[in-house]
Amino acid sequence: MSYVSASAMAKAAKAGHYAVGQFNINNLESIRVIMAAAEEVRAPVMLGVSMGIARQLGGYKTIADTVRNVLEYDGVTVPVCLHADHSTYDAALEALRCGFSSVMFDGSRLEIEENLRLTRQLAALCHAQGVSLEVEVGPVAGKEDGGAAEGELADPVECAAMSALGVDLLAASIGNMHGAYPPDWKGLNFPLLHAVREAAGEVPLVLHGGSGIPEESICRAIELGVCKINVNSECREAFSEATRRFFLDGLDQKDSAHMQLITLRPGLEAVKAVCIEKMRLFGCAGKA
Ligand code: 13P
Repeated sequence: MSYVSASAMAKAAKAGHYAVGQFNINNLESIRVIMAAAEEVRAPVMLGVSMGIARQLGGYKTIADTVRNVLEYDGVTVPVCLHADHSTYDAALEALRCGFSSVMFDGSRLEIEENLRLTRQLAALCHAQGVSLEVEVGPVAGKEDGGAAEGELADPVECAAMSALGVDLLAASIGNMHGAYPPDWKGLNFPLLHAVREAAGEVPLVLHGGSGIPEESICRAIELGVCKINVNSECREAFSEATRRFFLDGLDQKDSAHMQLITLRPGLEAVKAVCIEKMRLFGCAGKA
């Protein structure tokens, strides 16, 4: 089994009225547990790699090779998409060169004309290699990849222009945020999501900032056409919490020879549990 593009996965999700989860990796070990979660519940899965994490882990090629080797070593049989999350134009080209099966070009902070121009170029390059292209309209607010940003709601007219370029997935800002939602968060803007879906036509929609959104809102978003949901913060928090407990319970003192290995185990198990819970919620469990 090698990587598959996000396009076929998202189309199947659209037809089946469920969403595929994109889970961001935060270390090389998380690659293995995210795929193990998918294998356990028979879900197609997307591994998200931000530019910052790629730099920390030795670049896109290191990650692409690692994923390929783990797929083979663990005998993974569910479809796996390796996706470059929130890339610049140049990073998207680098991910393409390194064998990613999907890239997201995030030109949402550019003028729309420039976003459209670069998207058009990338769509041609990606599609020539059978790689899917996700784009964003209206920057998503919140903390991501070490930076924080103000959000803007997407303009359906701009969403229509993007979709007309033949992109494979469209991420539109509909009140969603990366990181923790503030207590006074107004929730997802469903009338806007409806308008974006009408504007996007057949192009599957993506919901970023999937951590911390109430379950009924996730289900409503899927009903309204969201086919891919990105989750990062909840996995990170689960990892931190389990690791903190490991040290507080003094478990690091029990097996000093294997300390480096066992320290990561509870955190990784916690990440796996979050992935399984989300796969069930998104309806993609049992779809592979
Ligand atoms: P969260 O960190 O809020 O789950 O968002 C993840 C994301 O959208 C990655 O692109």
